[in-house]
Amino acid sequence: MTPILQTDTGPLLHKAVEEAARLLKAGEVVALPTETVYGLAADALNPAAVAKIFEAKERPSFDPLIVHLPNKKMLDEVAEVPEDIRAIVQKITEKMWPGPLTLVLPKKACVPDIVTAGLPTVAVRMSKNAVFRRVADALGKPIAAPSANRFGSISPTSANAVVDELDGRIPLIIDGGACLCGIESTIIKVEAGSPKPIITILRPGPITPDDLKAFGKVKHLVRSVIDEATDAPGQLASHYAPRTPLRLLSKPEDFTPEPGKRYALMSYRGDASDGYTGLTEWVHVQILSPGKGKLPEAAVRFFYVLRELDGLGVDEIIAEPMFEHGMGIAMMDKLRRAAVKH
Ligand code: TXA
Ligand code: MG
Repeated sequence: MTPILQTDTGPLLHKAVEEAARLLKAGEVVALPTETVYGLAADALNPAAVAKIFEAKERPSFDPLIVHLPNKKMLDEVAEVPEDIRAIVQKITEKMWPGPLTLVLPKKACVPDIVTAGLPTVAVRMSKNAVFRRVADALGKPIAAPSANRFGSISPTSANAVVDELDGRIPLIIDGGACLCGIESTIIKVEAGSPKPIITILRPGPITPDDLKAFGKVKHLVRSVIDEATDAPGQLASHYAPRTPLRLLSKPEDFTPEPGKRYALMSYRGDASDGYTGLTEWVHVQILSPGKGKLPEAAVRFFYVLRELDGLGVDEIIAEPMFEHGMGIAMMDKLRRAAVKH
């Protein structure tokens, strides 16, 4: 069993940070909380340590990792920021870091190929989570950290969820409580453009297109044109899939339960008037944001609820759609991917 260290008092936090930094310095992996989802961390500049991330997650080597920086100054150590976007990158990182925004930039030679899956670019971010930042400060080096789940499954948003995914496969889990955002960081690519820089969203997340408008012309990568090998290599259709088949229902009347089958419902607002909750004998109903429906509240509970429903042993999870703006863009994207697998 993997030990779990708590962080809810000063002395516990101190001990947890010390132990995490000790293991990272020794070339080991540690599960750490971030403001988005839990990450599986290793010293990004140590290829043997990074290899342990791939091993624990059973992640294919073509899927590059995100590099987390202890401070903004370190950006220039891992990325070669092109002259024509230097000013805009500076503006974005000033406003948005630390926070759930990842930038894809040309990489420097010190970043091992195993981190970037051989790509000439590196994905970088700076986490806002206080526990993560303490560990990053103690290590004083960039940290490679993908989500702390087995490859292809749901991202963990609590230490218990990390246990579900990686117990016995890693030497330590730091428990920092529930993740503040609940969905993975927004990933963007920045290009020079006239009159405005062009910001392409490679993966939707907590930082929404509206949040990015202030920095340039925002483009969404249309899924049909995603070159999975180069643009967002980890964005496979099968990502974010629970083990239970999932169906994204666009209209309640589209659903006819098959006799003898057991269903669970992931409802957005739990509003009986729009017909989902009263539709059938659900084994279990979970409501992401009861009442008016708030997308950030739904996001906090999203992966937690999906994981819970996945554990019920039902035949199918039925997911109700939500508004496709703001953080709803990311959640609908994940639901569509989850639905594709089956
Ligand atoms: O919020 C997050 O971003 C979390 C926390 C732990 O930081 N991390 C995370 O990592 O979601 P991961 O590995 O589950 O997803 C990283 C995504 C993958 O889809 C990967 O393909 C993409 O980032 N990525 C990494 N490097 C890239 C690059 N150079 N170019 C394009 N996409 C890249
Ligand atoms: Mg992931």
